[in-house]
Amino acid sequence: MDWVKWHQLYETEPSRIVRLKLVDQHLSNCMHDIPAGTFKAVSICAGDGRDIIGALSGHSRRNDARVRLVEIDQNLVEAGREAAGSAGLAEQVEFLLGDATMTSAYSGMAPADLVVACGVFGNVREQQLSQLVSHLPQLCQAGAYVVWTHYLSRTGMRRIELIRGFLRAAGFIERQMDFSDQAGHLVATHHYEGRGLPLVDNSRMFEFKDPRKLDILRYRILRKLDKKLRLGFFSKERRYGKDNPKIFH
Ligand SMILES: C[S@@+](CC[C@H](N)C(=O)[O-])C[C@H]1O[C@@H](n2cnc3c(N)ncnc32)[C@H](O)[C@@H]1O
Repeated sequence: MDWVKWHQLYETEPSRIVRLKLVDQHLSNCMHDIPAGTFKAVSICAGDGRDIIGALSGHSRRNDARVRLVEIDQNLVEAGREAAGSAGLAEQVEFLLGDATMTSAYSGMAPADLVVACGVFGNVREQQLSQLVSHLPQLCQAGAYVVWTHYLSRTGMRRIELIRGFLRAAGFIERQMDFSDQAGHLVATHHYEGRGLPLVDNSRMFEFKDPRKLDILRYRILRKLDKKLRLGFFSKERRYGKDNPKIFH
């Protein structure tokens, strides 16, 4: 995957623009709710950080923030550093060019008040979702917020239900859940009600793998066929399952 190209879609792709707007709203709400004073935030697989940089730039808490964005692609890190500088956030925002899957990337910043895991869960194999969730209490203060996203599809909905269950079991309570058909994503905020765990050095939290390639390809082909033949199999109900009492917008 060319992640630089993927990020360029933020400029043109309507679903991506909606997703970014939603993520910004969630981040902004969290920053309002974090207790007064300096707070720490970390972003896992941060990309160019446009979500948190955008949310911070006009926010009343901007000067309270100490943010570490962990990203492995040098071009994205450079673009992010430039964006943070242009937003006057060079003091508040640091990029760590490195492996976000290892706990050591968060050393000195954990436990944080805000953990951003956008574009992460969808790139983790189903068997490793619980491993990732079980590491989150090492990154979180008691009372921390986790903002995360996941693509929507039939497989996506199954995975989302798994993640919600793992989060519940690990002491996270749902704060805001936006299932957005326009964004093609769930954007979620969870609140950590457990006790933070000490950061175990050099522990692997997950492997970053894109398990969706086949899923996406199959989805695109079937959706095209469905449209052409007007079969209606891709109605929201059919896509996400009848029994999902979610509010889509
Ligand atoms: C789906 S994008 C999400 C970017 C950003 N969080 C967002 O939602 O806009 C995934 C990002 O993870 C980065 N990435 C992949 N493997 C990584 C790793 N092991 N450590 C750090 N970043 C990684 C990619 O370079 C890419 O920028």
